[in-house]
Amino acid sequence: MPDTVRVPNDLDSFWMPFTASRAFQENPRLINKADGVYYSTIDGKQLFDGTGGLWCCNAGHNHPRIVKAIQDQAAELDFVHSFGQGHPIAFEAAARVVDLAPGLDHVFFTNSGSEAVDTALKIALAYHMANGEGERRILVGREKAYHGINFGGLSVGGIGANKGQFGTLYPSAAHMRHTVLEENRFSRGQPDHGADLADDLQRLCDLHGGHAIAAVIVEPVSGAGGVFPPPKGYLQRLREICDAHGILLIFDEVITGFGRMGTPFAYEAFGVQPDLVTCAKGMTNATVPMGGVLTTSRVREVFRKAPSKVPDLFHGYTYSGHPLAAAACIATLDVYRDDKVFENARDLAEPWADMLHGLADLDAVIDVRSCGIIGAVQLAQQGAVGDAGRAAHAALWDEGLIARPVGDAMCMSPPLVLTQEHIDEIGATLRRVLGNG
Ligand SMILES: Cc1ncc(COP(=O)(O)O)c(C=O)c1O
Repeated sequence: MPDTVRVPNDLDSFWMPFTASRAFQENPRLINKADGVYYSTIDGKQLFDGTGGLWCCNAGHNHPRIVKAIQDQAAELDFVHSFGQGHPIAFEAAARVVDLAPGLDHVFFTNSGSEAVDTALKIALAYHMANGEGERRILVGREKAYHGINFGGLSVGGIGANKGQFGTLYPSAAHMRHTVLEENRFSRGQPDHGADLADDLQRLCDLHGGHAIAAVIVEPVSGAGGVFPPPKGYLQRLREICDAHGILLIFDEVITGFGRMGTPFAYEAFGVQPDLVTCAKGMTNATVPMGGVLTTSRVREVFRKAPSKVPDLFHGYTYSGHPLAAAACIATLDVYRDDKVFENARDLAEPWADMLHGLADLDAVIDVRSCGIIGAVQLAQQGAVGDAGRAAHAALWDEGLIARPVGDAMCMSPPLVLTQEHIDEIGATLRRVLGNG
C-alpha cells in the first residue's frame, strides 16, 4: 500500500446512508481516487465505475474543466445566499439548464434530488392553491418508484423498505401499480406490454374525483427500483389523463436528466411533455451537490399574481443556487456540449444493449432490461431476495467492476463518456462472474 494513503482508524463515527454498517465494517470498501471511468481503492485496486458514481458522473470523474471551474469559483466568491439578493452565475446556470429543456423555462435550485422532488410537489400544491383549486391535495406516485428520501418523495415513492420505518408520511398520497410484467422479460428498450397500466390514474380520478388530484409523479425510466423502462404508450397515456383532469405531470429525471437517454432529458426521447421536471446528479456531474425543478411558464406565471412585496413561493434552501454548484453546473454543461457527451450516449445505446442482452444465455440470468445507457441484469433468486445480488456485487468488485444490486437485479449506469472498448470490458467481466454463478 503506498504510504501516502490515509486509512481511517474509526469507521464508527460516520453513520453511513443506506448501509448495512456491521457488514461494511467487517469488509470496508474504501475508494480514495478517481479518474475518468475508473475508481481506485486505498489498497490500489482499480475498478470500472459501472454505476457512474450513483447514476450521476456522466462526464466521468475529475474532469479537468469542471475541477478548475470549482477551484476558481471558490477563490472568487465562496458563498452568498439568494434570498432576495443574488449572484450572477446562478442566473447563468439557470439559463443554461432551461436552454436544454424544450417547453420548460424556469428552474428552482435545490441541493439534491430528494429536495427537488419535495420542491416539485410543493410547487404543484401551491400552484393549484394560487389558481383557486386548493382542494387538489392528492399526490400520486407509483409502486416501486424512488423519489428520494424526504417526506414528500417518500410518500409518493413505492419502495416499501424505504417507507416502513417511518409511518404515515403525507396523508393524501395515492399510488398506481408498477409496470413490471412477466411478458416484458428480456425487452430491449421500451417493453410492448403495459400501456394500459396508466389507466390506474384514471381509476384514481374515478375514485377520488380528478379535481382532488394535484399531481402525478413518475420516473420516465424507473431507476433505483431496478431499472424499468416505460411500456410503449404509457407516458403518453398519463399525459392524456392529466390533461383531461387538470393534473400536473411531474417527471422525476434525477437519473435520466443530462444525457442518459442520449437527449438532455428523457421526456424528449419519449416525446411526452411534462409540466415539471426534477433533476440533480448529472447537473454538476455530481461534483458539487445541486438539484433543480424545471417548470413551464404556465406554472410559473400563476405565482406572479402574488403581491410584489412578498415571496411568490415560501420555500427555498440556504444553498439554492450555491456559487460553487452554479460554477460546476456551467462547466459541466460546457463539457457535455464540447465533448459531445449526449451524442456519445446516443451512439452507444445500441452496443450497450447488445452487450447486456448478450448475457441472456447465462443460466443465472432471468431478465435483462436496457434503455439509453442504463441497464439491469436480473439474477435468479438464490436463498432470500438480495442474496444473489449481494454475492454478485462482491464477486464483480473483486473482478474490478462496480454494479449496483437492487434486490437481485445488477443495475448499471456507467459514465456517458464510455467507449466500445469499455462496453466490451464490462461485458467480459459480467460474463466471467455471472457465468460462474
Ligand atoms: C429518480 C430519483 N429521484 C430522486 C432521487 C434522490 O436524489 P438524492 O439522492 O440526490 O436526494 C434519486 C436518487 O437516486 C432518484 O433516482
